[in-house]
Amino acid sequence: MPKKILKFPKGFLWGAGTSAYQVEGGIVNNDWAVSPNIAKSGQACDQFHRFRNDFLLAKRLGHNAHRLSLEWARLQPEKDMWDEKAADHYLAVLRFLKQKGFTVFLTLHHFTNPLWVTAQGGWQNHATIESFKIYVAKAILAFGHYVDFWVTINEPNVYAGLSYLEGIWPPFQKSPWHAFRVYRNMLSAHNQAYEVIHGYFPHAKVGMAINIAHNVPARKSSKLDNLAAAFSNYFSSDFALHEKKYDFIGLNHYFYNRIKFDWRRIVKILPPEGRVSDKGWEIYPRGIYEVLLSLRRYQKPIYITENGIADEKDSWRASYIKEILTQIHRAIAKRVDVKGYLYWSLLDTYEWPVRTGETGYESKFGLLGVDFSTLKRRIRPSAKAFADICRQNTLVV
Ligand code: BGC
Repeated sequence: MPKKILKFPKGFLWGAGTSAYQVEGGIVNNDWAVSPNIAKSGQACDQFHRFRNDFLLAKRLGHNAHRLSLEWARLQPEKDMWDEKAADHYLAVLRFLKQKGFTVFLTLHHFTNPLWVTAQGGWQNHATIESFKIYVAKAILAFGHYVDFWVTINEPNVYAGLSYLEGIWPPFQKSPWHAFRVYRNMLSAHNQAYEVIHGYFPHAKVGMAINIAHNVPARKSSKLDNLAAAFSNYFSSDFALHEKKYDFIGLNHYFYNRIKFDWRRIVKILPPEGRVSDKGWEIYPRGIYEVLLSLRRYQKPIYITENGIADEKDSWRASYIKEILTQIHRAIAKRVDVKGYLYWSLLDTYEWPVRTGETGYESKFGLLGVDFSTLKRRIRPSAKAFADICRQNTLVV
Protein backbone atom coordinates (compact mmCIF):
# COMPACT_ATOMS: atom_id res chain seq x y z
CA MET A 1 0.00 0.00 0.00
CA PRO A 2 1.37 3.45 -0.85
CA LYS A 3 2.03 5.57 2.22
CA LYS A 4 -0.18 8.51 3.07
CA ILE A 5 1.50 11.78 3.99
CA LEU A 6 -0.57 13.88 6.35
CA LYS A 7 0.72 17.44 6.74
CA PHE A 8 -0.35 19.47 9.76
CA PRO A 9 -1.10 23.20 9.56
CA LYS A 10 1.83 25.58 9.69
CA GLY A 11 2.72 26.58 13.25
CA PHE A 12 1.07 23.50 14.75
CA LEU A 13 2.19 22.99 18.34
CA TRP A 14 3.72 19.69 19.39
CA GLY A 15 4.67 18.67 22.87
CA ALA A 16 3.70 17.01 26.11
CA GLY A 17 2.36 17.91 29.52
CA THR A 18 2.61 17.21 33.24
CA SER A 19 1.17 18.61 36.45
CA ALA A 20 3.04 19.79 39.53
CA TYR A 21 1.92 17.25 42.13
CA GLN A 22 2.43 14.40 39.68
CA VAL A 23 6.05 15.17 38.85
CA GLU A 24 7.72 17.74 41.08
CA GLY A 25 8.22 15.80 44.29
CA GLY A 26 8.49 17.26 47.78
CA ILE A 27 5.01 18.76 47.94
CA VAL A 28 3.82 18.14 51.48
CA ASN A 29 1.23 20.81 52.12
CA ASN A 30 -1.71 20.25 49.79
CA ASP A 31 -4.91 18.27 50.37
CA TRP A 32 -3.56 15.16 48.62
CA ALA A 33 -0.29 15.14 50.52
CA VAL A 34 -1.88 15.14 53.97
CA SER A 35 -4.74 12.79 53.31
CA PRO A 36 -4.38 9.44 55.11
CA ASN A 37 -6.88 7.82 52.69
CA ILE A 38 -4.76 8.03 49.58
CA ALA A 39 -1.19 7.27 48.49
CA LYS A 40 1.05 10.33 48.30
CA SER A 41 3.25 11.37 45.39
CA GLY A 42 6.35 11.63 47.62
CA GLN A 43 9.46 12.48 45.62
CA ALA A 44 7.57 11.75 42.36
CA CYS A 45 9.98 12.35 39.43
CA ASP A 46 11.89 14.99 41.37
CA GLN A 47 11.26 17.32 38.48
CA PHE A 48 11.59 20.17 40.94
CA HIS A 49 15.35 19.62 40.70
CA ARG A 50 15.55 17.97 37.28
CA PHE A 51 13.41 20.23 35.12
CA ARG A 52 16.31 21.37 32.96
CA ASN A 53 17.22 17.84 32.03
CA ASP A 54 13.56 16.96 31.31
CA PHE A 55 12.98 19.98 29.10
CA LEU A 56 16.22 19.39 27.21
CA LEU A 57 15.03 15.86 26.52
CA ALA A 58 11.70 17.22 25.28
CA LYS A 59 13.61 19.61 23.03
CA ARG A 60 15.68 16.74 21.66
CA LEU A 61 12.43 14.95 20.93
CA GLY A 62 11.30 17.75 18.65
CA HIS A 63 8.73 19.32 20.98
CA ASN A 64 8.03 23.01 20.49
CA ALA A 65 5.42 23.37 23.26
CA HIS A 66 5.10 22.24 26.85
CA ARG A 67 2.32 22.19 29.42
CA LEU A 68 2.97 22.28 33.16
CA SER A 69 1.18 23.50 36.27
CA LEU A 70 1.89 25.64 39.29
CA GLU A 71 1.41 24.17 42.74
CA TRP A 72 -0.86 26.66 44.46
CA ALA A 73 0.13 25.33 47.90
CA ARG A 74 3.82 26.08 47.25
CA LEU A 75 3.07 29.65 46.23
CA GLN A 76 0.48 30.34 48.91
CA PRO A 77 1.15 28.00 51.83
CA GLU A 78 -1.01 30.34 53.93
CA LYS A 79 -3.92 32.44 52.83
CA ASP A 80 -2.19 35.78 53.19
CA MET A 81 1.22 34.70 52.08
CA TRP A 82 3.07 34.61 48.77
CA ASP A 83 6.20 32.53 48.95
CA GLU A 84 8.90 34.41 47.03
CA LYS A 85 11.25 31.44 47.02
CA ALA A 86 8.64 29.23 45.40
CA ALA A 87 7.86 32.01 42.92
CA ASP A 88 11.56 32.30 42.06
CA HIS A 89 11.65 28.59 41.38
CA TYR A 90 8.74 28.74 38.94
CA LEU A 91 10.27 31.80 37.34
CA ALA A 92 13.45 29.82 36.70
CA VAL A 93 11.42 26.95 35.25
CA LEU A 94 9.40 29.17 32.93
CA ARG A 95 12.42 31.21 31.85
CA PHE A 96 14.26 28.04 30.98
CA LEU A 97 11.36 26.84 28.84
CA LYS A 98 11.19 30.17 27.02
CA GLN A 99 14.97 30.29 26.51
CA LYS A 100 14.74 26.89 24.86
CA GLY A 101 12.06 28.16 22.53
CA PHE A 102 8.99 26.35 23.92
CA THR A 103 5.48 27.71 23.69
CA VAL A 104 4.27 27.49 27.27
CA PHE A 105 0.88 26.31 28.51
CA LEU A 106 0.60 27.01 32.23
CA THR A 107 -2.16 25.42 34.31
CA LEU A 108 -3.16 27.28 37.46
CA HIS A 109 -5.20 24.55 39.14
CA HIS A 110 -4.65 20.85 38.51
CA PHE A 111 -6.72 18.97 41.13
CA THR A 112 -4.75 19.92 44.28
CA ASN A 113 -5.58 22.62 46.85
CA PRO A 114 -3.67 24.35 49.62
CA LEU A 115 -4.77 23.23 53.08
CA TRP A 116 -6.23 26.62 53.97
CA VAL A 117 -8.51 26.32 50.92
CA THR A 118 -9.76 22.96 52.20
CA ALA A 119 -10.19 24.47 55.67
CA GLN A 120 -12.41 27.22 54.30
CA GLY A 121 -14.70 24.64 52.66
CA GLY A 122 -12.83 24.07 49.40
CA TRP A 123 -14.64 24.57 46.11
CA GLN A 124 -18.04 24.27 47.71
CA ASN A 125 -17.48 27.65 49.28
CA HIS A 126 -17.81 30.83 47.22
CA ALA A 127 -14.91 32.27 49.18
CA THR A 128 -12.61 29.93 47.24
CA ILE A 129 -13.52 31.71 44.02
CA GLU A 130 -12.26 34.95 45.57
CA SER A 131 -9.11 33.23 46.86
CA PHE A 132 -8.48 31.75 43.42
CA LYS A 133 -8.78 35.18 41.79
CA ILE A 134 -6.20 36.63 44.17
CA TYR A 135 -3.84 33.75 43.45
CA VAL A 136 -4.37 34.16 39.70
CA ALA A 137 -3.63 37.89 39.87
CA LYS A 138 -0.39 37.20 41.75
CA ALA A 139 0.59 34.50 39.29
CA ILE A 140 -0.04 36.79 36.32
CA LEU A 141 2.09 39.53 37.81
CA ALA A 142 4.88 37.10 38.62
CA PHE A 143 4.91 34.93 35.48
CA GLY A 144 2.82 36.71 32.85
CA HIS A 145 5.73 37.43 30.52
CA TYR A 146 6.71 33.80 30.23
CA VAL A 147 3.37 32.23 29.47
CA ASP A 148 1.69 31.86 26.09
CA PHE A 149 -1.46 29.97 27.08
CA TRP A 150 -3.16 30.02 30.47
CA VAL A 151 -5.15 26.97 31.47
CA THR A 152 -7.11 28.24 34.45
CA ILE A 153 -8.55 24.96 35.75
CA ASN A 154 -7.85 21.41 34.70
CA GLU A 155 -10.91 19.23 34.19
CA PRO A 156 -13.44 20.77 36.58
CA ASN A 157 -15.82 18.00 35.50
CA VAL A 158 -13.41 15.25 36.59
CA TYR A 159 -12.51 17.03 39.83
CA ALA A 160 -16.15 17.54 40.80
CA GLY A 161 -16.96 13.98 39.74
CA LEU A 162 -14.22 12.10 41.54
CA SER A 163 -13.86 14.32 44.61
CA TYR A 164 -17.55 14.97 45.24
CA LEU A 165 -19.77 12.61 43.25
CA GLU A 166 -17.80 9.40 43.65
CA GLY A 167 -16.05 10.77 46.74
CA ILE A 168 -12.81 8.89 46.08
CA TRP A 169 -10.44 11.90 45.94
CA PRO A 170 -9.92 14.60 48.56
CA PRO A 171 -12.09 15.84 50.22
CA PHE A 172 -13.92 12.47 49.83
CA GLN A 173 -17.45 13.80 49.83
CA LYS A 174 -20.16 11.86 48.14
CA SER A 175 -23.05 14.02 47.12
CA PRO A 176 -24.44 14.92 43.68
CA TRP A 177 -25.49 18.33 45.05
CA HIS A 178 -22.02 19.13 46.30
CA ALA A 179 -20.55 17.92 43.01
CA PHE A 180 -22.84 20.18 41.04
CA ARG A 181 -22.08 23.15 43.25
CA VAL A 182 -18.33 22.57 43.00
CA TYR A 183 -18.50 22.25 39.22
CA ARG A 184 -20.49 25.47 38.97
CA ASN A 185 -18.14 27.32 41.31
CA MET A 186 -15.13 26.19 39.33
CA LEU A 187 -16.65 27.38 36.06
CA SER A 188 -17.46 30.68 37.67
CA ALA A 189 -13.88 30.89 39.00
CA HIS A 190 -12.65 30.23 35.49
CA ASN A 191 -14.78 33.03 34.04
CA GLN A 192 -13.59 35.45 36.66
CA ALA A 193 -9.97 34.41 36.25
CA TYR A 194 -10.39 35.01 32.53
CA GLU A 195 -11.23 38.65 33.29
CA VAL A 196 -8.40 38.99 35.79
CA ILE A 197 -5.82 37.71 33.31
CA HIS A 198 -7.13 39.87 30.49
CA GLY A 199 -7.09 42.87 32.82
CA TYR A 200 -3.31 42.58 33.06
CA PHE A 201 -2.57 41.07 29.65
CA PRO A 202 -5.31 41.99 27.16
CA HIS A 203 -3.83 39.72 24.49
CA ALA A 204 -3.34 36.70 26.74
CA LYS A 205 -4.83 33.41 25.60
CA VAL A 206 -6.94 31.92 28.34
CA GLY A 207 -8.91 28.67 28.46
CA MET A 208 -9.74 25.62 30.52
CA ALA A 209 -8.76 22.02 29.95
CA ILE A 210 -11.88 19.92 29.85
CA ASN A 211 -12.11 16.17 29.75
CA ILE A 212 -14.50 15.16 27.01
CA ALA A 213 -15.17 11.51 26.33
CA HIS A 214 -16.78 10.05 23.26
CA ASN A 215 -20.06 8.88 24.78
CA VAL A 216 -22.39 6.67 22.81
CA PRO A 217 -25.68 5.02 23.79
CA ALA A 218 -25.14 1.34 24.58
CA ARG A 219 -28.27 0.45 22.60
CA LYS A 220 -28.80 2.84 19.71
CA SER A 221 -32.52 2.15 19.65
CA SER A 222 -33.04 2.84 23.35
CA LYS A 223 -34.43 6.31 24.05
CA LEU A 224 -33.24 6.13 27.64
CA ASP A 225 -29.68 5.18 26.67
CA ASN A 226 -29.67 8.05 24.17
CA LEU A 227 -30.85 10.35 26.93
CA ALA A 228 -28.14 9.15 29.31
CA ALA A 229 -25.42 9.65 26.66
CA ALA A 230 -26.75 13.13 25.86
CA PHE A 231 -26.78 13.92 29.61
CA SER A 232 -23.08 12.96 29.87
CA ASN A 233 -22.17 14.97 26.81
CA TYR A 234 -24.06 17.98 28.07
CA PHE A 235 -22.28 18.03 31.43
CA SER A 236 -18.80 17.49 30.05
CA SER A 237 -18.91 19.94 27.18
CA ASP A 238 -21.90 22.22 26.72
CA PHE A 239 -22.32 23.01 30.40
CA ALA A 240 -18.65 24.05 30.55
CA LEU A 241 -18.46 25.87 27.23
CA HIS A 242 -21.79 27.46 26.44
CA GLU A 243 -21.69 31.23 27.03
CA LYS A 244 -18.43 30.99 28.95
CA LYS A 245 -15.35 33.09 28.38
CA TYR A 246 -12.36 31.52 26.70
CA ASP A 247 -9.95 32.17 23.86
CA PHE A 248 -9.34 28.51 23.11
CA ILE A 249 -10.67 25.12 24.08
CA GLY A 250 -8.23 22.81 25.86
CA LEU A 251 -9.38 19.29 25.11
CA ASN A 252 -8.27 16.38 27.29
CA HIS A 253 -9.40 13.20 25.65
CA TYR A 254 -9.07 9.62 26.89
CA PHE A 255 -12.39 7.81 26.96
CA TYR A 256 -14.82 5.94 24.78
CA ASN A 257 -17.93 5.15 26.82
CA ARG A 258 -20.90 2.97 25.97
CA ILE A 259 -23.63 4.39 28.14
CA LYS A 260 -26.69 2.75 29.52
CA PHE A 261 -29.49 4.47 31.38
CA ASP A 262 -29.55 3.64 35.07
CA TRP A 263 -32.51 4.45 37.31
CA ARG A 264 -30.35 5.36 40.29
CA ARG A 265 -27.61 7.47 38.75
CA ILE A 266 -28.85 8.10 35.19
CA VAL A 267 -25.55 7.09 33.62
CA LYS A 268 -23.98 3.66 33.72
CA ILE A 269 -20.77 3.12 31.78
CA LEU A 270 -20.53 -0.41 30.41
CA PRO A 271 -17.26 -2.37 30.57
CA PRO A 272 -14.98 -2.02 27.52
CA GLU A 273 -15.39 -4.43 24.64
CA GLY A 274 -12.27 -3.74 22.57
CA ARG A 275 -8.53 -3.43 23.20
CA VAL A 276 -7.67 -1.73 26.49
CA SER A 277 -4.66 0.15 27.87
CA ASP A 278 -2.85 -0.84 31.10
CA LYS A 279 -5.46 1.30 32.88
CA GLY A 280 -8.27 -0.80 31.41
CA TRP A 281 -9.42 2.12 29.27
CA GLU A 282 -10.68 1.15 25.84
CA ILE A 283 -8.42 2.17 22.95
CA TYR A 284 -10.67 3.83 20.41
CA PRO A 285 -8.82 6.58 18.49
CA ARG A 286 -11.82 7.42 16.31
CA GLY A 287 -13.49 8.90 19.38
CA ILE A 288 -11.35 12.03 19.24
CA TYR A 289 -12.61 12.74 15.72
CA GLU A 290 -16.22 12.65 16.90
CA VAL A 291 -15.46 14.85 19.89
CA LEU A 292 -13.61 17.36 17.73
CA LEU A 293 -16.49 17.58 15.27
CA SER A 294 -18.86 18.20 18.19
CA LEU A 295 -16.68 21.11 19.32
CA ARG A 296 -16.64 22.84 15.92
CA ARG A 297 -19.82 24.77 16.75
CA TYR A 298 -18.05 26.77 19.49
CA GLN A 299 -15.85 28.34 16.80
CA LYS A 300 -12.71 28.59 18.90
CA PRO A 301 -9.23 27.25 18.30
CA ILE A 302 -8.73 23.87 19.93
CA TYR A 303 -5.55 22.58 21.52
CA ILE A 304 -5.37 18.97 22.62
CA THR A 305 -4.05 19.68 26.10
CA GLU A 306 -3.99 15.97 27.03
CA ASN A 307 -4.22 12.66 25.29
CA GLY A 308 -2.21 9.57 26.01
CA ILE A 309 -2.06 5.95 26.94
CA ALA A 310 -0.84 3.95 29.94
CA ASP A 311 1.39 1.36 28.29
CA GLU A 312 4.31 0.12 30.36
CA LYS A 313 5.69 -2.15 27.64
CA ASP A 314 5.40 0.58 25.03
CA SER A 315 3.72 -1.86 22.70
CA TRP A 316 0.76 0.34 21.74
CA ARG A 317 1.89 3.91 22.32
CA ALA A 318 3.44 4.73 18.93
CA SER A 319 0.56 3.28 16.93
CA TYR A 320 -1.97 4.85 19.30
CA ILE A 321 -0.44 8.31 18.80
CA LYS A 322 -0.41 7.80 15.03
CA GLU A 323 -4.02 6.66 14.97
CA ILE A 324 -5.09 9.58 17.14
CA LEU A 325 -3.20 12.04 14.93
CA THR A 326 -4.78 10.54 11.83
CA GLN A 327 -8.18 11.24 13.37
CA ILE A 328 -7.17 14.77 14.35
CA HIS A 329 -5.99 15.35 10.79
CA ARG A 330 -9.37 14.14 9.51
CA ALA A 331 -11.10 16.62 11.81
CA ILE A 332 -8.86 19.45 10.58
CA ALA A 333 -9.83 18.52 7.01
CA LYS A 334 -13.44 19.00 8.16
CA ARG A 335 -12.62 22.57 9.24
CA VAL A 336 -12.14 21.92 12.93
CA ASP A 337 -9.51 24.45 14.02
CA VAL A 338 -7.08 22.18 15.90
CA LYS A 339 -3.81 23.99 16.52
CA GLY A 340 -1.75 21.74 18.74
CA TYR A 341 -1.29 18.34 20.33
CA LEU A 342 0.24 17.83 23.77
CA TYR A 343 0.77 14.19 24.60
CA TRP A 344 0.09 13.15 28.20
CA SER A 345 2.58 12.83 29.63
CA LEU A 346 6.19 13.77 29.05
CA LEU A 347 7.32 11.23 31.61
CA ASP A 348 5.91 8.52 33.86
CA THR A 349 4.27 10.24 36.81
CA TYR A 350 2.37 9.76 40.01
CA GLU A 351 -1.07 8.85 38.74
CA TRP A 352 -4.11 9.88 40.86
CA PRO A 353 -5.29 6.63 42.53
CA VAL A 354 -8.83 5.52 41.82
CA ARG A 355 -8.81 2.15 43.62
CA THR A 356 -7.95 1.32 47.20
CA GLY A 357 -4.43 0.04 47.58
CA GLU A 358 -3.01 1.82 44.52
CA THR A 359 0.40 3.40 45.12
CA GLY A 360 -0.03 5.93 42.33
CA TYR A 361 2.94 4.53 40.45
CA GLU A 362 1.27 1.67 38.57
CA SER A 363 0.43 3.48 35.32
CA LYS A 364 3.09 4.45 32.81
CA PHE A 365 1.89 7.18 30.48
CA GLY A 366 5.34 8.63 29.75
CA LEU A 367 7.17 9.23 26.51
CA LEU A 368 10.09 9.01 28.90
CA GLY A 369 10.14 6.07 31.26
CA VAL A 370 11.22 6.82 34.83
CA ASP A 371 12.93 4.36 37.11
CA PHE A 372 11.50 5.53 40.43
CA SER A 373 14.33 4.03 42.48
CA THR A 374 17.10 5.89 40.63
CA LEU A 375 14.93 8.60 39.00
CA LYS A 376 16.77 7.96 35.72
CA ARG A 377 14.86 8.85 32.56
CA ARG A 378 14.77 6.53 29.57
CA ILE A 379 13.54 7.51 26.11
CA ARG A 380 10.88 5.03 25.02
CA PRO A 381 10.87 3.98 21.33
CA SER A 382 7.42 5.58 20.93
CA ALA A 383 8.93 8.93 21.99
CA LYS A 384 11.24 8.70 18.97
CA ALA A 385 8.38 7.85 16.65
CA PHE A 386 6.47 10.87 17.98
CA ALA A 387 9.62 13.02 17.61
CA ASP A 388 9.72 12.32 13.86
CA ILE A 389 6.17 13.58 13.54
CA CYS A 390 6.86 16.70 15.64
CA ARG A 391 10.01 17.60 13.69
CA GLN A 392 8.43 17.19 10.29
CA ASN A 393 4.99 18.52 11.21
CA THR A 394 3.88 15.55 9.17
CA LEU A 395 2.56 12.10 9.82
CA VAL A 396 3.35 9.27 7.44
CA VAL A 397 0.93 6.34 7.69
C1 BGC B 1 -5.54 14.29 34.32
C2 BGC B 1 -4.09 13.88 34.46
C3 BGC B 1 -3.99 12.37 34.58
C4 BGC B 1 -4.58 11.76 33.32
C5 BGC B 1 -4.50 10.25 33.26
C6 BGC B 1 -6.31 13.44 33.32
O1 BGC B 1 -7.64 13.40 33.68
O2 BGC B 1 -5.63 15.65 33.99
O3 BGC B 1 -3.55 14.53 35.58
O4 BGC B 1 -2.70 11.93 34.81
O5 BGC B 1 -5.93 12.11 33.24
O6 BGC B 1 -5.28 9.68 34.23
